[in-house]
Amino acid sequence: MKKLAFFFTLCTLHLTLLQAQDNVYNLIPFPAQFNGGEGQFVVNPQTKIIVTAKDAGLKPIAQSLINALKTASKLTLPIASTATPTAKNVIYIRQNKALGLGSEGYKLLVSADRVILETATPQGAFYGMQTIFQLLPTAVFSPTPVENITWAMPVCQIQDKPRFVHRGLMLDVGRYFMPVSFIKKYIDLLAVHKMNVLHWHLTDDQGWRIEIKKYPKLTQIGSKRKETLVGQYSENYPQKFDGKEIGGFYTQAEIKDIVKYAQAKYVTIIPEIEMPGHASAALAAYPELGCEPTKKYEVATKWGVMTDVFCPTEQTFTFLQDVLTEVIPLFPGKYIHIGGDECPKDAWQKSAFCQELIKKLNLKDEHELQSYFIKRIEKFVNSKGRAIIGWDEILEGGVAPNATVMSWRGIKGGIEAAKQKHNVIMTPNTYYYLDYYQANPAKEPLAIGGYLPIEKVYEYDPSAEFSPEEQKYILGVQGNVWTEYMPTPQQVEYMTFPRATAIAEVAWVPSGGKNFEDFATRLKEHVKRMDYLKVNYSKRILDVKAVTQFNNQGQLQVRLEKLDSDSKIYYTLDGKEPSTSSTEYVMPITLDKITTIKAITTAGARFEEKFFIHRAKGKSYTYANAPAEGVDADRKKLTDGQVAQSPRNSAEWVWMSGKDFEITIDLGEVKPVTKVSANFLKIIMSNVFPPTSVEIGLSRDGENFKDAIAQPVNYQLEGPWQILPVVADFKTARARYIRVRAKNAGKSPSGQTITIAMDEVVVD
Ligand code: ACM
Repeated sequence: MKKLAFFFTLCTLHLTLLQAQDNVYNLIPFPAQFNGGEGQFVVNPQTKIIVTAKDAGLKPIAQSLINALKTASKLTLPIASTATPTAKNVIYIRQNKALGLGSEGYKLLVSADRVILETATPQGAFYGMQTIFQLLPTAVFSPTPVENITWAMPVCQIQDKPRFVHRGLMLDVGRYFMPVSFIKKYIDLLAVHKMNVLHWHLTDDQGWRIEIKKYPKLTQIGSKRKETLVGQYSENYPQKFDGKEIGGFYTQAEIKDIVKYAQAKYVTIIPEIEMPGHASAALAAYPELGCEPTKKYEVATKWGVMTDVFCPTEQTFTFLQDVLTEVIPLFPGKYIHIGGDECPKDAWQKSAFCQELIKKLNLKDEHELQSYFIKRIEKFVNSKGRAIIGWDEILEGGVAPNATVMSWRGIKGGIEAAKQKHNVIMTPNTYYYLDYYQANPAKEPLAIGGYLPIEKVYEYDPSAEFSPEEQKYILGVQGNVWTEYMPTPQQVEYMTFPRATAIAEVAWVPSGGKNFEDFATRLKEHVKRMDYLKVNYSKRILDVKAVTQFNNQGQLQVRLEKLDSDSKIYYTLDGKEPSTSSTEYVMPITLDKITTIKAITTAGARFEEKFFIHRAKGKSYTYANAPAEGVDADRKKLTDGQVAQSPRNSAEWVWMSGKDFEITIDLGEVKPVTKVSANFLKIIMSNVFPPTSVEIGLSRDGENFKDAIAQPVNYQLEGPWQILPVVADFKTARARYIRVRAKNAGKSPSGQTITIAMDEVVVD
């Protein structure tokens, strides 16, 4: 594969087009300034690494290259401490305080004669070394020797530094404890991607995971939950639990060991101790910290936002300050994350103490009480020489004076914080929540919901919608890995990678320097590094995706797309398994009947999808009662030919709350109609009930509906969620208009408003 990487100035582009025809640079994140060249530097048994005595601090960086090559190639390179400017066959690593690339930047020159890595700091050298690893053959990441490889680096010139100082991943160990060995592996993976922050979410409703010596019950009681919800939150009615205890916590000795490990990889760990919400586990251990001290609080066994929160009493502040007094010395970084998100005010509203306090402090409401809470904690953290970070809810009721805001509910919190001259870290759920599905939810392991393919992660521009003045407050970006549906390290890896690789590039490359196609090509090689590192990344980067379109004759066409450009697709339409002797895909496939397309790629991916061709496909329709704004905005979802496959994929369904669901489809002319069907959802936990009855009628003029067929929808309240089909058989009718009327049952047995969810009205 020839590779012309992307560039930031036209003249470099021009230069490289002339010179770099044969060299390949699969660097992620891609350097800020890059010139390719001809030829290569070959590492052989005579190659020396030079680190002079004055730069002894860079020796560990040199040693990492020696170790990797020794393992993967059996070459043992010596370190020499004297340098002559004309020495050949050397890798010279040296400090240059006047480099002008900041504390994380580096300059790397690879020529056929020598490699020179210059940096102002060991951290810069560390990142330069990551680039050297990525210039070497992928096998340099191998944990065992690999034969028959020329250990060469393509010639190039790089001047590099990151766009942002905060390039992070958040890992939630509150929902599931992850072993120390895995935390270290996660740190390794951050470092490989030149990321520098692990935000460690250590406490939540479902588990308290950090040893606090003064409060032993936090881990004795708070680290254990008796069981865990089975399936998706709303999947079963009633909800089911697995009966298996889940626990685990980190001792302070283990934390010190992890922090030291991270420091060697230039990763700062930001601990998060959640308050005042997400406190169930702490309250289960110390109920006197809640607003109802006599209540039997429990470590939560299911997910969501809980009303059990810390009460803002003096006892609670003493407790939290004691906890922070033990936490702060364990983590040498500047920041302590104090949570602040999703704190329902129910308990504070009901509490006489809180109401008194609001009056006494002359506060407006419970939001201002939360603001008082956070400000008081900030004062304490500041007194210890540290600063707080909080989720964007800390803006409500007035933000604490020195707080950094982590914007998670989209980007508006970040913009608001920057307007108020507070630093912000952008981690919007709309782009950077790595617990969301990355591919078709019907075929993926269970996840929390949403849909966030890697293209969208990559597309995010952290400074979008910030004014130039406000942009100065953006410290950086971070992917969040909430683990409700990730019980194992393997699943965490699957959800994190390769999407985190896209975040790493967004965090590093200069504004405007991204190109997804180029990234995808480099990523195809990069995942081989992850293979060597035994990362269970999602293979969906290799997947085939179907996009439907209509040609000029109104026929349905299916376009098969993939991210990588150099594999081929072979497919069948007759249900047979495809092979490389099947038809090769070269242009969109035109379909005229219900067809299952099966395809394989030479990169090893497999694809199968059924396409429904029916008379109403692509036809427009009107609503009797409009659905909520944004739902089915272009009035196409019910006739787009893609039949919703799973209750998991909420985006495939059309939702109608508190009203009958009635549409009228216009076929454009009178046509034979034999059968009309539609699917409805049953998700009792979410008050999504099937309609009490569905009436399907036909008309030639759009006014007189004859031949209506009314069907009751039968289902059982208890049991898992379901897709319920309704079919009306018209045998040989003719009609232009088709009306589907689904009757809303009104209120659920518990008095809640009922929602109807419908998808694809199929007309044969
Ligand atoms: C969050 O996702 N509750 C920060």
